Amino acid sequence: MKAQFATGWYVIAEQAELAAGTVLSLRYFDRKLVAFRGESGAVVMLDAYCPHLGADLGVGGTVVGDTIRCPFHAWRFGGAGKCVEIPYAKKDMIPPRACVKTWPIRERNGLVFVWYDELNREPHWEIPVQPEYGAPDWTPWTLNIMTIKTPAREVMENVADRAHFPRVHNTHIEEWENEFTEHKAIQRAAGIAYPRGGGSDRFKLTATYYGPAYQITEMDAALPNVLLNTHTPIDENTIHLRFGVMLKKTGAKFAPMYLKNLQEGYGEDVAIWENKVWRDRPTLCDGDGPIGALRRWYKQFYPEAV
Ligand code: FES
Ligand SMILES: [Fe+2]
Repeated sequence: MKAQFATGWYVIAEQAELAAGTVLSLRYFDRKLVAFRGESGAVVMLDAYCPHLGADLGVGGTVVGDTIRCPFHAWRFGGAGKCVEIPYAKKDMIPPRACVKTWPIRERNGLVFVWYDELNREPHWEIPVQPEYGAPDWTPWTLNIMTIKTPAREVMENVADRAHFPRVHNTHIEEWENEFTEHKAIQRAAGIAYPRGGGSDRFKLTATYYGPAYQITEMDAALPNVLLNTHTPIDENTIHLRFGVMLKKTGAKFAPMYLKNLQEGYGEDVAIWENKVWRDRPTLCDGDGPIGALRRWYKQFYPEAV
C-alpha cells in the first residue's frame, strides 16, 4: 500500500503561537494532534487521544512542567509520549502501554515543523536556516494562512508548470530552469510581473522546495524579498497553505501590499485547484515545463508502506 501523505517536514504553527505553557489542538494528516511548549522551552507534539479512556489532550489539557495533563482523569504525558504520572496510582503501577505517539519537531525560521513518515523513519534531512530571518536589516515574516480544498500535489506541481504563469498570474517568463536533486526541487526563473494594481516588476528568482511541503523563494526585484510557501495536509483533499514574505527593512511598509499580491496570486491558483481533476497521465506538449520529471522526483516521498 502506498503511503497516504508524503514523507517530510511540515509546518504546524508559527513559533509565536506556541509560547511556554500553550496547548494547541490540531488536525493534520487526517488525525487529531496536540502540540504544547513545556516549561523548559521544548515543543512537543503527540497524537491527541489519551490512551486511558480517549479524551482529547488538546481540548482542556494543561501544561504541567514539561508534560501535558489530560483533562479527564489527569494522567500526565511527557515529551517521549509516556505517561509519567497518574494521580491515583502508584508510580510503579503506571501501565507500560500508557503512551501516545510522539513526533519529531524542529523550530526554524520562526516556524514549528513536524516530521511525518508513515514508515516511522527518523528525519533524514533538515530544513536549512534562512539567514534573512532575524537579520537586523530584514523584516520578520508577514504571514497568512488559507484552507484549500485540494491535495498537496497540485500546489507542488506549480514548481514545474511554466505555462500557467502568463495565463494565471499575468507574469511574462523570460528564463526558466528546473533542477531536481535529492530532496530539493529548484526553479530558477526570470521575467516581468504585472501586478493587478498596475505597473510592472522585473524579477529573477530561485524557488526551492525542501521536501514535499516547504518552499522558499529568494527574489531579486524592485524590492528584494524572501517568500514562504508551505502546505500541510489536513486530510487527503484539504490543506493549510501558509504563505508569507520577508522584505529588506527599507521596504517594510510594502509588506502588507506584497502579502495582498501574494494572496491574490494564490487566489488565482486556488480557483483552478479547487475545481480541477488530477490527471495521472496528462497530455503534455513542448513548452510545458518538466512536469514528468517533477512527478518522478515527488514519488520519493511516498514510500511503499508495509
Ligand atoms: S482519558 Fe485521559 S486520563 Fe482518562
Ligand atoms: Fe501558480
